[in-house]
Amino acid sequence: MAIVLNGKKLREKILADLKIKISKFEQKPKLVVILVGNDPASKIYVNNKQKCAQKIGIISEVIKYPSDIEEHTLISKIHELNNDPTVTAILVQLPLPKHISQTKIVETIAPEKDVDGFTPYNFGKLFSGEKPYVYPCTPKGVLLLLDEYKIELEGKHAVVIGRSNIVGHPMSQMLLNRNATVTVCHSHTKNLEQITKTADIIISAVGKNIIKGEMLKSGCVVIDVGIFKDESGKLRGDVDFDSSSKIASYISPVPGGVGPMTITSLMLNTVELFENNL
Ligand code: GUN
Repeated sequence: MAIVLNGKKLREKILADLKIKISKFEQKPKLVVILVGNDPASKIYVNNKQKCAQKIGIISEVIKYPSDIEEHTLISKIHELNNDPTVTAILVQLPLPKHISQTKIVETIAPEKDVDGFTPYNFGKLFSGEKPYVYPCTPKGVLLLLDEYKIELEGKHAVVIGRSNIVGHPMSQMLLNRNATVTVCHSHTKNLEQITKTADIIISAVGKNIIKGEMLKSGCVVIDVGIFKDESGKLRGDVDFDSSSKIASYISPVPGGVGPMTITSLMLNTVELFENNL
């Protein structure tokens, strides 16, 4: 049976250390989150981010806009936040309504306040193998979890499923930077199972239940980034846990695996940006 990677436990450990660190700062980091519209999942994520920030001493503000807000209003607000010295971290919750250009909005955030690491400056740094101000939260959280359990990456075949800018794409580059041999699979990939069978590490970020035990190589590491509700309203991941945990050596559960690590990374990034600014 696979060892279960416990994201909740690692979150508590990292947040406890961060809280002590923040308590010693004379001024406090301030994270501003912009939430547009009524997407229920986004509302929950933003609420969790705010609660977590407040718990460890980060000043947190959520700015809410209706879904019909105009793009230029949002851009003006981001400029205002960029120029406000008390604001040290900015996050625009994605996805945005269709009439707003996600690219334009993200590009407006000052790179040194870009707590997601999504701006072209930070992405460019990441993809040229250099250090961005911060690394994107979910892939960073995955690496924190792998490192906590001392899972080697160098020379390993890592298979990333999904190529979003939030997870799959930066994840693949961060694994490359750690000297893994990386394969990226996506909706056009043929014979997924042939590829997953050769993986030492599988990181699935699709949002559909696609990974079953029979697709895995014995002893591999399985990281489940997917999270969605099935027809009965139960939280599910990309990975069939029961069959996969019999084949893998390590596996991350849903919930309690990568989810808590994403928010932990956001808190770490907020503090990193703040310290960088001191
Ligand atoms: N929506 C889902 N995940 C994320 C994330 O990591 N950052 C932002 N800004 N929006 C998201």
